[in-house]
Formats: sequence, structure tokens, C-alpha cells
Amino acid sequence: MSNNTHIKILRTVLKKIKPKINQEKKIKTLSEKILNIANEEAKKYDSKAIIAGSLPRNTWLVEKNEFDIFIIFPKNTDTIKLERIGLQTGKKIIQKANGKWKISYAQHPYIIGEFNGVEVDIVPCCEIKIGEKIISAVDRTPLHVEYLNKNLPKNLNEDVRLLKQFLKANDIYGADAKTQGFSGYLCELLIIIHGSFLNLLKSIIKWTPKQILDKENYWDKNEFKALKRRFKEDILIVIDPVDKERNVASPVSAKTFYKLKKISKEFINKPDEKYFFKMELKPLRKTDFKKYLKSRKTDFLCIIFKTPIVVPDILWPQLRKTQKRIENILKESEFFILRSECWSDEVKTSVILIEMQVSRLPVVDKKIGPWVFDEKNTKSFINKHETLAITGPFIEDNTWVVEVNRKFVTAKDKLIDFLKQKKSILESNGIPNFIAESISREFGILENEQINKLIRKRNFGIFLRNYFEKEKLFV
Ligand code: UTP
Ligand code: MN
Ligand code: MN
Repeated sequence: MSNNTHIKILRTVLKKIKPKINQEKKIKTLSEKILNIANEEAKKYDSKAIIAGSLPRNTWLVEKNEFDIFIIFPKNTDTIKLERIGLQTGKKIIQKANGKWKISYAQHPYIIGEFNGVEVDIVPCCEIKIGEKIISAVDRTPLHVEYLNKNLPKNLNEDVRLLKQFLKANDIYGADAKTQGFSGYLCELLIIIHGSFLNLLKSIIKWTPKQILDKENYWDKNEFKALKRRFKEDILIVIDPVDKERNVASPVSAKTFYKLKKISKEFINKPDEKYFFKMELKPLRKTDFKKYLKSRKTDFLCIIFKTPIVVPDILWPQLRKTQKRIENILKESEFFILRSECWSDEVKTSVILIEMQVSRLPVVDKKIGPWVFDEKNTKSFINKHETLAITGPFIEDNTWVVEVNRKFVTAKDKLIDFLKQKKSILESNGIPNFIAESISREFGILENEQINKLIRKRNFGIFLRNYFEKEKLFV
């Protein structure tokens, strides 16, 4: 396939996603106004404000409609002071500009302003030079701004926009905990490194796990092995041009890495506009769910509880950890899990869905004791089980054995017994704090067809369709 077909399609996509002149004018005017106000405020603290992020580089996406103001405080400003003054100044700036403000939480709290649908992040940070130690991750941002100003050619902004849109439409744009995908800065670096959207896609097809991209050649080829060991959990390694010790791509999960490889290959082989626009899946229908239950012959359990009021970047890791912990709790009682996943509307309801391979065990359970020659342990084994044994103690292959009644015959009973405990006990059993709090107040368990009740929630229906019709990935 010639590049021309691809380029034609990319031009059509660009026309659709580029901001209209008046949209651009509106957001730029607002950003200049806010920058001025921010600088008036920043002066009071010997600081200065800049516009960071995608706006000044013309790589922002219309649907996000957001820009970023960074207030750079003098080197070594005390963190607590920085947080306090940062919030105070952020509020003041937004109020002066007649917008609405709220506090949001990343590594540090910051202010988000809102002006008729345009969002403004106001982030305080500390001044650093290349090679100096950072205190907070945002301290690097002014260096990123400087680097991109020098190294991202103006005419490549459209390639960055195409890349962001391509990723966004496929749910892999963003370094947040839920997405585990590609940040805006990473997109910009990838375009710088490969020179164009199409060249990038052609390279991605050839990427292998632990691919290393080191634009500034900070590391020698013979150090790559050590680098891979250092970033041992990371599937893609993109060395930050302003900090050779940092992997810009460390939020990228194996799943998003292979998803990107897949869509890149598909687009290169069979270019189509559809890759740039999200096709929303239809929610699973109740009858479909029943069909899956029948054909898979597994049992489904669904733990449902109120979503704790925390930002998504805290919620999702806590949900995933809860899911893993509960899998283990069931495993320890000899129930067998086929698969589990978590879902949340991020506001009201959260869910851990568990598909059981074995969810019911016989009443009788066998406990294998010590070897008959091991007198000491034999005594304690017999003492412990004598009264509860329904059969035995008896001997099998020179080993003591008893048969007892199983405490929990169904996975559901085991779950209820575990989840009804106090918050502190849940926490000491590895359930993260906000989820433990919520579950200890109230939880429910739905089984098999009862889960159909939740399909009213459209996004849950979509989640279920994704669960059963899992996307095929390939290398
Ligand atoms: P953004 O998330 O707004 O990214 O963060 P962006 O590059 O402007 O891309 P889009 O178009 O909005 O999606 C702006 C800068 O703030 C820093 C990053 O350095 C980023 O370049 N940042 C943001 C952080 O360091 N941590 C955060 O949690 C958020
Ligand atoms: Mn931004
Ligand atoms: Mn932002």
C-alpha cells in the first residue's frame, strides 16, 4: 500500500479534529488573560507563571479543551509552603478571572479552574536545572516545556494531534491509573523521535517488549541490558531527555502496549478513518448474559459496594488490589477462579466481578496430617481434629488423615464471611483503606442471573460485553 492512501485519510481526520479558528482564538485569549493574572500573583512570591502542556505547542485535543498554567517557585521552596501557597494562589487567580475553581489531587493537590467548558490546571512547582534532583514529578515540567520548544518542530504538531486522537479513540491515551497508556508528553517525544505519525506507526509494528528509545543517547548500547533490568516492570522504555534516570513510558501497561501494536499494524495494512473515532460497543443484553452463563457453565459472583469519594488515580489501583486480594482469599479456601475484573462508574457504584471455575465444594473435607513417625506433630494434629472429625483419625500411606466438615461450602459464603468484617480487619487482610471503609459500611453479592439487574447501567453492560468478547491481541 502506498503512503498516499494513508496520507489522504490522515488529512481527512485532521480536518475533523483540528480546532476551529474561533475555538482556538477563544482558548488562547483566555490563556493569555490567565497567564497575566497568574504572573501578577506569582510576583508576590518571587515566582513566575508559564503556560505548559499542549496548548502553546498546538497539540491539544478539542474534546479535552484544557490548558496548563505552571507557577514556578524559587529553588528549594519548602514543600508544605509550596502546597499551601500554590492552592491559595490558584484560587485567587481563578477568582480574579471570574471562573469556578475546585481542588484536585495528584502527587500534590492543585487547583482546577473552569470557564464555560474550558478547564485550567494551575500547578505549583519548584525551579530545577537539568540534572538536579526533583522533589515532585511536576518540577520537571518547565524543563519539558523548554525541551519541546527547542526540539518539536512547529509543523509536527499535526502529527502529535493525530497520534493523540488515534490513542484516545482506542482508550489508550493518558498516563492515569485507569488507562495505563501514553501521556501527552510521551506522544510528543515519540513524534520527535520518528519524525512523523506514519513513520512512528511503522516502527511500533516492529517494537518488542522492553523496547528502548533514548533520543539523546544518554545510554550506551552495552548499558541497555542493565537499563532493562532497572526498569524491570516496564514494557516500553523511553528515556526522558531532561532526566536520563526516568522512563517517560513507565505507566504504559503490557495491555496498552500490545493494543497499540495491534491498531498500528491494522492501520498500516488497511488504512481507515475509523481508527480515529471511538466506536462505542453495545451493552451486553440480558439474554446474551444468560446465554453465556449457560454455555460457559461457570458461576459468577459480583461484589457490589458504594464507590468511595476519591480521585480515579486512587480508586482504580485500590479496586485492582481488592480484586487480587479477594481472588487469593477464595483460593486459600480451595475455590477456583477462572477470571475476575473490576468495574466502577467512579461516582456511585463499584463492582468486583468473579467468574468461578469451582464455586461449590463437597461438605466433606480431607485434612492431611503428619507422617506417623513424627510423634510430636501427630499429637497436636490428633488433639486438634479429634472432636471435629467426622471420619478418623485414620492412616493412609503412613500419614495421619481426618475427614471434617468444610466450613464454607460455597464461595459466596466464604466471601460474605470475609467481607462482613470490620474495616480494620479488612485492612489488615490487605483490602486498601477506602474500599475497606466502603465495604465495611455496606456491600452486596449478586450471583449469576441476579447480575442482570446491573445491566441497566449502560457502562456496566459495555463492561460485560468486553468481558465476554475480549479483544484478541497478537505480537
Ligand atoms: P497534561 O496531562 O495536561 O498533558 O499535563 P498535556 O501534555 O498538556 O496533554 P493534553 O493535551 O492536556 O492531554 C501537562 C503537564 O503537566 C505535567 C506533565 O509534565 C505534563 O507535561 N503533569 C501533569 C504531571 O507531571 N503530573 C500530573 O499528574 C499531571
Ligand atoms: Mn494539558
Ligand atoms: Mn493538565
